[in-house]
Amino acid sequence: MKLHGTMRINERGHLEIGGCDTVELARRFGTPLYVLDEQLFRQNCRDYYAAFTQKYGAGVIYAAKALLNLAVCRLVEEEGLGLDLVSGGELYTARQARFPMGRVYFHGNNKSPEELALALEYKVGRIVVDNFYELELLNRLAGEKHTAAEIILRLTPGIEAHTHEYIKTGQIDSKFGLVIENGQALAAIKRALEMKNVRLHGFHCHIGSQIFELASYAHCARVMMDFVGQVHRETGWLAGELNLGGGLGIYYATGDRPPTVQEYADTLVGAVAAAAAERGIKAPRVVVEPGRSICGPAGTTLYTVGAIKDIPGVRKYVAVDGGMGDNPRPALYQARYEACVANRADQSPTEVVSVAGKCCESGDMLIWDIALPSLEAGDILAVSCTGAYNYTMAMNYNRLPRPAMVLVGDGRADLIVARETYADLISHDRLPARLRKDKRLSVASAR
Ligand code: LLP
Repeated sequence: MKLHGTMRINERGHLEIGGCDTVELARRFGTPLYVLDEQLFRQNCRDYYAAFTQKYGAGVIYAAKALLNLAVCRLVEEEGLGLDLVSGGELYTARQARFPMGRVYFHGNNKSPEELALALEYKVGRIVVDNFYELELLNRLAGEKHTAAEIILRLTPGIEAHTHEYIKTGQIDSKFGLVIENGQALAAIKRALEMKNVRLHGFHCHIGSQIFELASYAHCARVMMDFVGQVHRETGWLAGELNLGGGLGIYYATGDRPPTVQEYADTLVGAVAAAAAERGIKAPRVVVEPGRSICGPAGTTLYTVGAIKDIPGVRKYVAVDGGMGDNPRPALYQARYEACVANRADQSPTEVVSVAGKCCESGDMLIWDIALPSLEAGDILAVSCTGAYNYTMAMNYNRLPRPAMVLVGDGRADLIVARETYADLISHDRLPARLRKDKRLSVASAR
């Protein structure tokens, strides 16, 4: 496993993150445990802020779908970034953290009338309108509330990014956005411009996630700028803002070579500026929405090793106390991860094993074929780069409680998400009176 951020191996041979011994963390908070490296999370925010905002005056909106809770909202706010939110639940979370709503972009391909009303009530900075239905609905809702919705339109640029099929979004055959090629996008712009209760500021697109090729981004920026130019010629209206989404890839395992944030910024802003200059128009303000590249590397998951099953000549399975419930990414996207034995992080690998989860599915595997020191029950396994799309996609399959999350830094560890309890698991269950064991009692308590 590649050590990064504040990770180091301490005098006891244990993996340390944020000045905290991870073996102690496992003992204190239990496992599975999500550990978030505060300094690295903040540094990743700062890298974006420096590369985009300080260098180019561009906007950076952290994509909360990658990792969101109250503490994360506070970190993002303190580092000066905005938030990309996609649901009433995410809006509510940001609101409860008292995040400045003017810095929020509200996304989604099927926002409900209630969610749109909430976004208007909270006065979010931008609503990213995805389709005609939403455009009409929003215009009506904003009218009813005697307000104006500040919007940008999500467009489908028709670009195929090189990434997993499930996390591609820029191609024409997509559920997201208005297609440029077939005239839908232009029709929506004309409609938006004549509406009384929406104010159109620009466009949005997002080509996918875990992308390494900067050429895909440059291509996307050019396609979008071609369209900005075309719209300007045909309507006289010039887009003031171009939100180019997120998606920058990160290092998960050997072979992953992500570009730097500065290279990404130079590519995007450079392509937009060049295209604007060619057309003799003012360049729109660039906005980006990174999620994974901010929180992904800052997360590590700690597990306790349990059953070990050796099938001589075939494979050695090492089972941990979590799995697809806290990290569904290997099962969903064949995602790869690296790991180390946290309590013997100074030892060299001696054997190749496969790390299995504890769910009742053969597909519940976290890592296939990884070289590790010989493992035994009770060892603490640390899986790195689990900060993005782990906690936010965690589930209760097999009624496994979701793990706790701690924020570590300067030798301190603070609980930022409590571990679910068995009582939490049944807290939304309801037992109709006729199914209760003590019917008399249940009738009384139902009253
Ligand atoms: N903006 C929009 C409109 C998005 O749809 C996304 C991600 C982002 C920004 C942030 O992308 P990022 O920088 O995090 O790559 N669950 C999948 C990833 C789904 C991405 C969804 N949209 C995974 O675990 O790989």
